[in-house]
Amino acid sequence: GCSCRIAPSILNADLSSLAEECQRLLDCGSDYLHLDVMDGHFVPNLTFGHPVVKCLRPKMPEAFFEMHMMVDNPERWVEAMADAGASMYTFHYEATSDPVACIRKIKEAGMKVGLGVNPPTDVSVVLPYVDMVDLILIMTVNPGFGGQSFMSECLPKVQVLREKYKNLDIEVDGGVGPKTIQQCADVGANVIVSGSALVKHDNPREAIQMMRATINE
Ligand code: DX5
Ligand code: ZN
Repeated sequence: GCSCRIAPSILNADLSSLAEECQRLLDCGSDYLHLDVMDGHFVPNLTFGHPVVKCLRPKMPEAFFEMHMMVDNPERWVEAMADAGASMYTFHYEATSDPVACIRKIKEAGMKVGLGVNPPTDVSVVLPYVDMVDLILIMTVNPGFGGQSFMSECLPKVQVLREKYKNLDIEVDGGVGPKTIQQCADVGANVIVSGSALVKHDNPREAIQMMRATINE
């Protein structure tokens, strides 16, 4: 079966203390970090890029960094992110004209590959690539901002994938927290991104434990 993972997004954390915020979430029992990169083109917002990842890496040499690349032309940053110490490079189907070339480039650079789809995109578009990637990301908000409401209408996509692929890592991202995780678990998501629900929680350790219990049921 799948291994379940809880991956905090630090998008809504205090970014002036990025390393401390990341360490805090890792210490609270999360499995890896989901780092949201935005370019102001693919999404109407900006965050950070590979220079920040490069500074973060030596502070937490063992941590798994999933880069969620909400950028146009994702091919462009593959080498820089690998050099900076990224573990996984998740790009969007909508952002490139040649997903296969991008997947190859990511693998050649030694990173794991994730492929994401936005809420309006039909899940059938990723089926030809499932066997080439490590993870499929089903967005449960329109990307660009943390703290948006969970779109449960995206969950049938997870269900379709889970029915076809028993061992695929299927990630959900956007509006997921203790209140919405049950719905994600029910359709078979096993990699859970959670931003504001964890970062703003009084007791993130408890929230992570609760979410982990739900997803492992
Ligand atoms: C959305 C990002 C997400 C998101 C997670 O554009 O990709 O990772 O910010 O944060 P919450 O859980 O607050 O939606
Ligand atoms: Zn994300």
